[in-house]
Amino acid sequence: MSTIKYKTIDPNESNNAIDKNLYKYFINDFRKGYIEATDQKYVLPQYYVEFIEKIDNFEVYDTDVFVVTHPKTGTTWAQEMVWCIGNNLEVSDEYIYIRFPFLEVTTLFDLRDAPNALPAFFYKEFFTNSLEYIRKLPHPRFIKTHLPWELLPRQIRTGERKPKIIYVYRNPKDTCVSYYHHCVNGEGYKGDFNVFMELFLSGRLSFGPYPSHILSVVQQKHRNNVLILKYEEMKSDLKAVIKQVCEFLNKVYSEDDIDKLQKHLSFEVMKTNKAVNYDLFFGDGKFMRAGVIGSYKVDMSPDVVARFDKWIAENFANTGTSF
Ligand code: A3P
Repeated sequence: MSTIKYKTIDPNESNNAIDKNLYKYFINDFRKGYIEATDQKYVLPQYYVEFIEKIDNFEVYDTDVFVVTHPKTGTTWAQEMVWCIGNNLEVSDEYIYIRFPFLEVTTLFDLRDAPNALPAFFYKEFFTNSLEYIRKLPHPRFIKTHLPWELLPRQIRTGERKPKIIYVYRNPKDTCVSYYHHCVNGEGYKGDFNVFMELFLSGRLSFGPYPSHILSVVQQKHRNNVLILKYEEMKSDLKAVIKQVCEFLNKVYSEDDIDKLQKHLSFEVMKTNKAVNYDLFFGDGKFMRAGVIGSYKVDMSPDVVARFDKWIAENFANTGTSF
């Protein structure tokens, strides 16, 4: 039995303009509705309900390595880094979503009545039955998830199993802008940036509220199987972060090898690496979009920036988390 509390978000239940916009602009062939789960009211697609128990009860192993993130915070970048470090610096040309699959991806795209919503390539088990696909992977398994701490498989939360957990977060302004482009290009969002931004700030997009997501994992940093990283640190000193991850995964590599890995993980190289680009999903060149700190300045007016800064101050004061 699952003990995860959830309820369907009903936009007609209240006069909430935010939820009405969620249903107006973010419903499509593969997304019929949304739920809110746990006391934090994490938003997830309605289809998640079909998997809520399976995810809670999902069997985890101490040898598993998880990259846990909110969407658009550098997940793929961290995955490629962790994959290489965990696999003797092997550079793989296998698609990252095949070798480092996304635990709950199936719950985001209800394809049962939408046979043509995505390219045919995605009508395969890694996408349409991700839990089963991951269950059968050889060990050690490398697993991506966007779930916050409270929704991770129970064995992780209780500490019964201690897989390595690498969490990455990013400043909310760039995260929101990157998420907007992602949702327009790949998740069927039909509104404009202003509506999207209000949904983000109100915690009404999938995997939000973002502050709760970050704090849910940062509060677990005392656990020795949890490593917390920041996108901005990866940008400013990738080599130091690579060394931190090597130590966390008990791997030792030469300075030369680490230099090579650093090059392999640069934005310029990753942009041309088909295995990490999701071109089949988003279209050519759309996933590796800007790859910088501060790209929000293109999409946000000074007023919006000021609103975000106030929101950041309110939500992260005294949390030990800064941007
Ligand atoms: P932008 O949209 O701001 O460019 P995720 O993998 O969580 O979906 O995150 C995607 C974001 O990470 C995108 O941000 C993408 O460009 C950025 N990214 C991916 N690889 C990167 C790299 N090697 N260096 C810097 N940013 C990278």
